[in-house]
Amino acid sequence: MKTLSVFTTLLAVTAAKKCIVKDTSAPAADDVALNSEVEDVAGADDVAVPSDEEVKKLPADFKWGAATAAYQVEGAWNEDGRGESVWDHFTHLYPKNVESGDRTNPDSTNGNVACDSYHKFDEDVKMMKIMKANHYRFSISWSRLFPDGEAKKVNGKWNVNEKGTQYYNMVIDTLLENEITPLATLYHWDLPYALHEKYGGWLDYRSQDDFAKYAEYCFETFGDRVKGWITINEPWVNCVSGYRLGPGKAPYRCTGEAPRKLQNDTTGLDLEGGCSYEIGPSQYYKGAEVLPANRAPQRLEDVWCSHNILIAHAKAVNVYRKKFQKKQKGLIGITIDGEAQIPWQDANTTPEELENNKKYANLAAEFRIGWYSDPPMVGDYPASVKQRMGKDMPVFTPEEKKLLKGSSSDFLGWNTYTAHWAEQVKNEDGTYVQPPTDDEASFETSKQDMWDDNCRGRGEGWTCIPPTLGSQAGSSWNTKYGPTIRVGLNWFADRYKGLIKNGIIITENGCAQPNYKVSRANDLATKEYFESIGQPEYADTYDESIIEDESNIEGSIINDEYRIDWYAQYLENLRLAYAEDGVDVRGYMAWSLVDNFEWENGYETRFGMTYIDFYNDDERTRIPKKSLEFLGQWYLENVEQA
Ligand code: GAL
Repeated sequence: MKTLSVFTTLLAVTAAKKCIVKDTSAPAADDVALNSEVEDVAGADDVAVPSDEEVKKLPADFKWGAATAAYQVEGAWNEDGRGESVWDHFTHLYPKNVESGDRTNPDSTNGNVACDSYHKFDEDVKMMKIMKANHYRFSISWSRLFPDGEAKKVNGKWNVNEKGTQYYNMVIDTLLENEITPLATLYHWDLPYALHEKYGGWLDYRSQDDFAKYAEYCFETFGDRVKGWITINEPWVNCVSGYRLGPGKAPYRCTGEAPRKLQNDTTGLDLEGGCSYEIGPSQYYKGAEVLPANRAPQRLEDVWCSHNILIAHAKAVNVYRKKFQKKQKGLIGITIDGEAQIPWQDANTTPEELENNKKYANLAAEFRIGWYSDPPMVGDYPASVKQRMGKDMPVFTPEEKKLLKGSSSDFLGWNTYTAHWAEQVKNEDGTYVQPPTDDEASFETSKQDMWDDNCRGRGEGWTCIPPTLGSQAGSSWNTKYGPTIRVGLNWFADRYKGLIKNGIIITENGCAQPNYKVSRANDLATKEYFESIGQPEYADTYDESIIEDESNIEGSIINDEYRIDWYAQYLENLRLAYAEDGVDVRGYMAWSLVDNFEWENGYETRFGMTYIDFYNDDERTRIPKKSLEFLGQWYLENVEQA
């Protein structure tokens, strides 16, 4: 690893300036040159610029594939003994919390059928072949195996739903027969509803052991064939979206930030802003007060959810390490989400301001990412987070710290979809807002002096005020700005130098083709901004023709050029992180293999490289998009072939 400056976000601004991704398969000489600020620290002078033929490829054992998640693709929600998950429960109870263009189709606001992968897994494998996948990341539905969430082994026999086991055996065996290595996620947000009802799910410390038991069953049953395990997918999204920012994500708890008021909810259960009061009696930690059932959402629920889910991850890893890893020889880690942070800079930014913005970019990354990645790497929350949260920050016990430390040292999974700018907030008179003092420190004040976002500001109803950081894809938060993956990879590599044995795996990265809801076609403010800072290649305006049109799937839906350019930008920046910066990145799973149930956006937002007509086609026919083939070609050209 080259020595980069303390704030690797520097690389973002500088490298992004000169690392022009014009033709991803063959970068020209000036495309890979770094400017002098980085040359000093990264020794870029010494880097021989490869000719077209010599482009340094990713190694032959690079993990290459696509990702999906059980609730988003499987369907068969109540078939063969599967229990209800929080996603079944809440999408059924609050269908208006999920977007749908066509509510006449009762399945358009839930995952009841989704891609029907439960019955059509062979069809999915055909799609994997087109992109030349050697890995496939899927998730296991906890409530398909243990309908009430409580895994128990009595007299040597597990209380499992055998049909569920048969399904995952089929998935794993089919993958292996096709020379595709399974990468299994144990938890991708579909908590068994019974545990939410019993004790409020992740808000209660008992969730930790229930998760570890369920994980033990999976290791024991599938671990002879599954050698890559991801414990938890995106703790931030699960907890912050599910327990604070709702009603976007199950279990639709929301406090704090502007709950959306829903209109005409069909069920009449549209409580305060569309958020749910339904919850079991919960104890955040052993010995804490018992919070009553069916209470209004409380402050800090997301913080406690995060705390418990991180410990649950560590306990599952402990079971694997103690009982299975030596024999099964697999690897285990966690998948973290979060935007890489780019110091804000425009033509008027002074060098002093830029320095300060770099500091704030790192701070913002510690809050957004380090909060979740530090515990499984170094055993505790970042010092900055603890100090600024004050008494609102949960504390790990010494035993928990011990379990956590190194619990993702086999590999670290990172999902990346966007980037944020960051800077210190200014008062109206131009002076800086100050950080909270120790006395003021609390959840509410913790980020009072910190700004980060992918828009330059927010208008009414959270509308984005341009410029945006790159062009806006089909979700408001999904921005096409390839250098973000390089910045983030460097941030992790620097922070956890020497601590990650088998490298970083990009466990998700993907693009929603611009659609009618959030398109920012002809966003001239963004175009002008990127031109003004010398990065015109990211001034990516697009016209109406690129916007998805369901009535013409042969158009930009299947011929998904915008998405192809996304993958080209991100993959080239990943390759540069490996080839130029020496980052140990070992895999890339594109999100997603197929269009699927996109949580709060239902089937209205498509991330897939395979088209499915969810509204009219009962067969759920898979139609490959152009991007699927593009990825297959990229793999052949940019990864060493054994
Ligand atoms: C991730 C999530 C996926 C998928 C993707 C696109 O946060 O893990 O399940 O929905 O975002 O929104």
